[in-house]
Parts: sequence; C-alpha cells; structure tokens
Amino acid sequence: MKQEGDIKKAVQCLREGKLVGLPTETVYGLGGDGRKASVVAKIFAAKERPAFDPLILHFHNASQLSAYIANIPPHFWPLYEAFCPGPLTFILPRKPSVPDIVTAGHSTVGVRFPRHPLTREVLKRCRFPVAAPSANLFGRVSPTEARHVAEQLGSRVDFTLDGGACEVGLESTIIDLSTQHPRILRLGGLPLEAIEEVLDLSIPYEKNSSSKPQAPGMLTSHYSPGIPLLFGPIVQNIPRIDPLRTGVISFCTAVNGIPDSNQRVLSPDGNLAEAATALFGALRSFTADKYDCILAEPFPEEGLGRAINDRLRRAAAH
Ligand code: TXA
Ligand code: MG
Repeated sequence: MKQEGDIKKAVQCLREGKLVGLPTETVYGLGGDGRKASVVAKIFAAKERPAFDPLILHFHNASQLSAYIANIPPHFWPLYEAFCPGPLTFILPRKPSVPDIVTAGHSTVGVRFPRHPLTREVLKRCRFPVAAPSANLFGRVSPTEARHVAEQLGSRVDFTLDGGACEVGLESTIIDLSTQHPRILRLGGLPLEAIEEVLDLSIPYEKNSSSKPQAPGMLTSHYSPGIPLLFGPIVQNIPRIDPLRTGVISFCTAVNGIPDSNQRVLSPDGNLAEAATALFGALRSFTADKYDCILAEPFPEEGLGRAINDRLRRAAAH
C-alpha cells in the first residue's frame, strides 16, 4: 500500500501511547489509545480542552463494539449499514471498560467509524479504539489539512499521518441513540435529512444549545477564526467595515465593494458539499495580520447548508 511506512509509524506511535494526527473524511483528529486514561489525558492537555468535554472513540468496524458498549440500540444498525464508515457519530451507552476521562464521566460514549482509507488501515491494525477529538486547540477552527495540525499543536503531536485535504470538511453529525427517541446533538458532515429518511423518523435538533449542552463541543462560541466574524446578509454589514481589511465568505457569487483577493466564494456552482469542504480553509485564510474581520452570508438552510450555518453562527458568537 502507498504510504505503508507512514501507516506503520502511526500504528507504532499509537501502540506506544503517543499522540498521532490522523486524517479522516471530516477533519483531522488528534488520536491516542482510547483504552488508556493517561494517554487520553495527554490529548486533553495538548488541545487545552476542558475535562467536561468528552471524546469520540474511533473504530474500524462494529464487531469491535461489544467490549465497550453496554447495548446497541435498534436504530444503530440501519444507520451503520447506510452510512458507515462515514461522517456520523453515535452516542451509545458505555461499558466500564471505557475510561471515565474519555466520556467526562457520562454513562454514554461517542462512537465513530471514519472513512479515510489511511486511518481505516491504522484502526484495523491497532484493533483498539482510538480516542480522537479534532486536532485543533480548544475553541478554534478544526484542521482540514495535515499542516493545520502542526500549526496549532506543534510538538504536542508525536506524528501526523498526511492523508491530504479532508473530503467532507465539516465534523461528523452526532446522533444520540442512548435515549428513547434519537436526537441530533451536532449537525455535521452527514445531512439530517439522510438520517431521517433511513430511520423514517423526524429527528429533533435544538439549534440554540445553551452553555451547558449535552454535547459540550456545541458551546455557543466555538470555531473561533481569531478575528470577529459578522454572520448575516453581507450588504448590510459593508458600511461597518474597511473593505481592504475584510474577508468575505459567500456561497456562489462574490460581492461588490470588496477586493476579489479578499473573497472566498465557496462554490460557484452552488454545490453545498463543495462549499462545506472549503469552509474551514476559508476561515483560516483570513489571518489577523491582514484582516480585521470576516463577513459571512447565510447559506441555504437545507442539507449541509444547515451545518455550514451552524459553524458560522458559532464562529460569530465570539
Ligand atoms: O468528525 C469528527 O467527529 C471529528 C473527527 C476527528 O472524528 N472529531 C470531532 O471530535 O469533531 P471533537 O472532540 O472535536 O467533537 C466531539 C463532540 C464534542 O462536542 C463532544 O462534546 C461530543 O462530541 N461528545 C462526545 N462524547 C459525547 C457524549 N458521550 N455525549 C454527548 N456528546 C459527546
Ligand atoms: Mg472539535
């Protein structure tokens, strides 16, 4: 296999309790042996992440679950068949074999089967679950390329497996299957409509989660680009800004009155998947040395557009 040496190194590092940047189809993760509390503690420290925010365990396939999951709810299987490996995280009741630090003391644990072929190979060889949050500092924009991992985490990561740019570009959708009726805790790379179709159910999502949310990563203020972001119709905000020091994020057309080089049109063809892939890179490109603020317009509130709007709303909440 191409990159055999890198895969071996990633597996070796994970077996030795080191931290590895791992490519997934959504964003890069900061992986470590999910069975070992001391390793998971290093992940929290590297990200400067508060201990109340639980981590997702990554598996190669569902046959590995029985050692960690207390019972698998019926809705799990149709979703697993339809979408895994893929950008979906399940919240499931856990067994005591999952260290408390992974779940922040909750009786449930996040479980995901990522689709990127390199990371799938790593997970297959490791055979243990890999705990991995997004490989960014807490509250910042998630990495969608290997170099982003080093930019924020530097030598806190022992090795990063370079799998190229992430295909989806938004974190996984999180569905809670631990309660009687499934709930969406985070909109993400798998559109809610696709899940509803498979389950033949309407699934609630509470847009304005509070400061004490069920998925703490859904804190109102998250995904900080490091400078203020104004989220709303762009023409309304133009009178308030200096056009030369303002970045613009729009869906399919550039706006008048701002230099082209300051504009990121995420999908000239109006394709929401393409826009999602480009979103975090666009946010990162507006660095504080050259830009004072970012204007971002609302995307269509459907499919991946809902997750894009969610991230922009949170980025604006700083
Ligand atoms: O796409 C993804 O999910 C990426 C890649 C690396 O897999 N991972 C990711 O992890 O986004 P992280 O840690 O940045 O976000 C995980 C979210 C957090 O908001 C956390 O609060 C929530 O999952 N979560 C984890 N376990 C949970 C649990 N038991 N109950 C509720 N929410 C949970
Ligand atoms: Mg994250």
